[in-house]
Formats: sequence, structure tokens, C-alpha cells
Amino acid sequence: MKFENISVLETAKAVPSKVVTNDDLATMMDTSDEWITQRTGIKQRHVVDEETTTSLSTDVASQLLTKSGLSADEIDYIIVATMSPDFLSPSVAATVQGKIGATKAVAFDLSAACSGFSYGLSVARQMLIGDEPKRAIVIGAEVLSKLLDWHDRSTAVLFGDGAAGALVESVEGDGAVLGTDLRTLGDLGKYLTAGQVGENTPFQSESTEFSRFFTMNGRRVYNFAVNNVPLSIESALADANLTVNDVDHFVLHQANIRIIERIADKMGLPESKFHSNIAEYGNTAAASEPILLDEKIEDGTITRGDIVVLSGFGGGLTIGTVVLKY
Ligand code: ACO
Repeated sequence: MKFENISVLETAKAVPSKVVTNDDLATMMDTSDEWITQRTGIKQRHVVDEETTTSLSTDVASQLLTKSGLSADEIDYIIVATMSPDFLSPSVAATVQGKIGATKAVAFDLSAACSGFSYGLSVARQMLIGDEPKRAIVIGAEVLSKLLDWHDRSTAVLFGDGAAGALVESVEGDGAVLGTDLRTLGDLGKYLTAGQVGENTPFQSESTEFSRFFTMNGRRVYNFAVNNVPLSIESALADANLTVNDVDHFVLHQANIRIIERIADKMGLPESKFHSNIAEYGNTAAASEPILLDEKIEDGTITRGDIVVLSGFGGGLTIGTVVLKY
């Protein structure tokens, strides 16, 4: 096999222009900037008015083509990780493929909630290795605002909308993905649910209640994250033959600043290695890791050759860690 790994050519992001601050939310529900800031680190979030999961994803894919100088027909795969697609069919990825004219590309959505981008990169790597050079666009995109009960302060304050992604290509020799660790704990799935697909058939004896809104046992998910994410990071680093001391940057899913601080503390690492933009975007699920990755590449914090740990965790429940040499 000639091409045994992938490299990250470009990253890009697209977020809705509308910003909703904590103070805006305090006019809509019984909450306050003080509570949200202290408990989560979130100050504002971007929320769609006209954009959709598909339009944000298309924007990211177009930017990736422009930045790389590649044409759409040079793309072999498009993977969109999302828990908030516009339709169950067609997939967001298929619509993006059509809109950018990537006629050769095989396109599909991937559902792994906040771990979606890490899962997507891992899947792309497996699909790209082989005898021929290939390229994939991997996007994490969410419009979580359409899954929120805007009267429920326990969830409405936490989430935001956005999309970001990476253009990756297969390479000979040393590549970007040094190690991975993907986990699914399906027996804990009930602690975070959203977007129930209800059934209304003439054959049901009685109608079932269903809800598309987020439900979350915040404390359970918090404990799951702080207990399991360090284990996943250690396992991915062992897969890469590295230790935590080799890592230059931790780009963790932005669910709650306290989760990130607790993980840094548990791993005995300085918080300065753990980047965060939760104050500006809130929790954008699958978009969270790539938005932060793109920001840190764009502002020059992450440079070529740096070792980056990407770790997502959330609905499923799932965890996905990728050790990347950028
Ligand atoms: N404003 C004001 N008060 C609030 C709000 C709010 N927005 N929300 C809850 N409260 C109240 C509660 O009613 C409760 O009041 P009580 O003590 O009178 O009953 C009090 O604040 C404390 O509530 P807790 O839920 O215990 O608060 P906690 O400190 O656990 O913080 C939070 C809640 C932020 C949800 C936290 O548990 C957390 O971050 N959990 C993890 C979430 C996460 O990681 N999600 C990632 C996955 S997301 C995905 O996969 C899509």
C-alpha cells in the first residue's frame, strides 16, 4: 500500500452572523449572564436566521476549495458530521456535493454528535489509504438552535450553531493522523437525546408522544466526560507512541469550560495548553472541534509540525480522540 496516512491541507469555518448574548437569553427565560458564565464559560452563541446546516456546510466546502486551489472534481469523498441535518434524506453531504459540483465525490453524513469530527477524520483516513492518491472534505456542521426548547433554560443556554471542516489528502510516508481512540457507550445514550423521529402510522394502537427537543442529564454527562476523556486521550497517545508531554495543543470539544479545566487538572497539565472559544460560540457539537482548530491555525497559534490532540465527547454517548501532526 502506497498511501498509508493523510495530511491536513486546509481548514475553514462558517458561522451565522447573528449573535445571541447571555443577556438576550435573560430576556427570554429565567436565567442570567452570571449563572451561564460561571457554570459554563459561555458569553454568547451564533444562531441562524437564514442559514441552514447545508448552507453553512456548503460555505465551508467552497472555502476549502478556494484556499487549496483544488477544483471540485478533485474531491473523492465528502463527509458531514452532524446531529442536526436539514433532512434525513438527502444527506447534508450529498446536497453539498451537488452544490459545489464535486461530481466524482461519494458523500454521506455521519451521526456521532459532539464526537462527529473526530469520527469523521478517522473514517476519512481509513477511506483514503490505499494505492491511489485521494482527497476528502470532512465537515462538522450544526444548527442546534432548531433542536432546542427555547423555554428550557437548562439546555437553551448551552448550544450554538456553526460549521467548520478540513480538506485532507492521502500521503506517502509520514502523515497527520498519528493515533486514534474512538469509543461508544450506548447504554448511556439516554442521558443526552435530541431530534426524536416520531412515527405516525395507521397501524399503531395508540399515538406515542415524541419530541425533537434536547434532553440532557447535565451532571451525568459532565461526570462521563471528566472520567472518560482523559482515558481516551491517553489511549490515542499510546496508539501514536507519544506521551502527554509531546502534545503542543489540546483542542477539546467545547461543552463547558469547567469540563476542560477539570480534564487539564486530572491530567496534571497546564490549562494554557487547552484552547477554548466557548465564550464566543457555546457548544456547537460536531462543529466545535474544527471551529477551534481553524481559529488556532488562522491566528498562528497552531503551526505546521505541531502535535494537536482533538477530542470530542457527547451524545451517543460517544468519545473520539485523534492525535494529529499538523
Ligand atoms: N440559569 C439559571 N439557573 C439554572 C439554569 C440557567 N440557565 N440552568 C439550570 N439552572 C439551575 C437549576 O435549576 C438548579 O437549580 P436548583 O439548585 O434550585 O435545583 C441549579 O441551577 C443547578 O443546576 P445543575 O444542573 O445542577 O447545574 P450544573 O452545575 O450541573 O451545571 C450544566 C449544568 C452546565 C449543564 C453542567 O452539568 C454541564 O455542563 N454538563 C455537561 C454538559 C455537556 O458536556 N454536554 C456535552 C454534550 S452535548 C452534545 O453531545 C450535543
